[in-house]
Amino acid sequence: MEIKEQINREKLPGHVAVIMDGNGRWARKQGFARIKGHEKGVGAVRDTVEAAAELGIRYLTLFAFSTENWNRPKYEIDALMKLLVESIHNEMKTLMDNNIRLATIGDLQSLPSKSQQELKKAMDTTSGNTGLTLVLALSYSSRWEIVEACRKIAETVQKGEMKPEEIDVHSFTAGLTTVGIPDPELLIRTSGEYRISNFLLWQIAYTELYFTPTLWPDFNKEEFFRAILDFQNRERRFGLTSEQITKVESAKKKRTQ
Ligand code: FPP
Repeated sequence: MEIKEQINREKLPGHVAVIMDGNGRWARKQGFARIKGHEKGVGAVRDTVEAAAELGIRYLTLFAFSTENWNRPKYEIDALMKLLVESIHNEMKTLMDNNIRLATIGDLQSLPSKSQQELKKAMDTTSGNTGLTLVLALSYSSRWEIVEACRKIAETVQKGEMKPEEIDVHSFTAGLTTVGIPDPELLIRTSGEYRISNFLLWQIAYTELYFTPTLWPDFNKEEFFRAILDFQNRERRFGLTSEQITKVESAKKKRTQ
């Protein structure tokens, strides 16, 4: 049976996040400049977005550019920004045809104005779409986001609109750039690295982690489906015991019968 057919559509993760890694190594292996790896990586982005939309996954977040990536050589940053603008421009029809809404997280104001404009246009055009929400993490890092959220809460307290004892998980979460987006249930990282690299640290408290040695430019639909299947074969306990989980599951089943 094909991998896709083995996936249980009733047990899909609501939100999948992906650390796309290995573009540079892929290029070096082929004897190309690093940017060729990023260019080939755009194909893997297309495949992954299509695969998520085909399954009916609600949210897909891609780590496209980190705060730390600003330290790369200027020509690589410029090439990545150009690639981003071109890809969004070229994929607008696909986004519309597939009912995909584009969203972003990160410090967008630090991006070149051309990139900001293209992103804003694409977000406005796709804002009414009701299928998959594709979230691009751009100039994003979790520590930056958490510090920003602290600042917002501190300002609210300083203005006297909130008491320190009223700060809780809910009010803190409201200050993150992911506000309104459910936490990821599955996080995929490619290229055989076992790290989180400052990505969604707060949001992945209960997320299942999936690591594959495949370099990002070689990632494809089949690999994505394999990760979803792996996720579906795990038992998620959220701090409960196996017995409690079995009870919750059978109560859920009874309710839907
Ligand atoms: C990591 O590989 C990848 C990136 C920093 C950029 C990802 C960007 C794309 C796939 C292209 C554009 C994106 C969109 C959303 C259209 P790396 O360069 O860190 O690889 P290495 O670890 O092998 O050096």
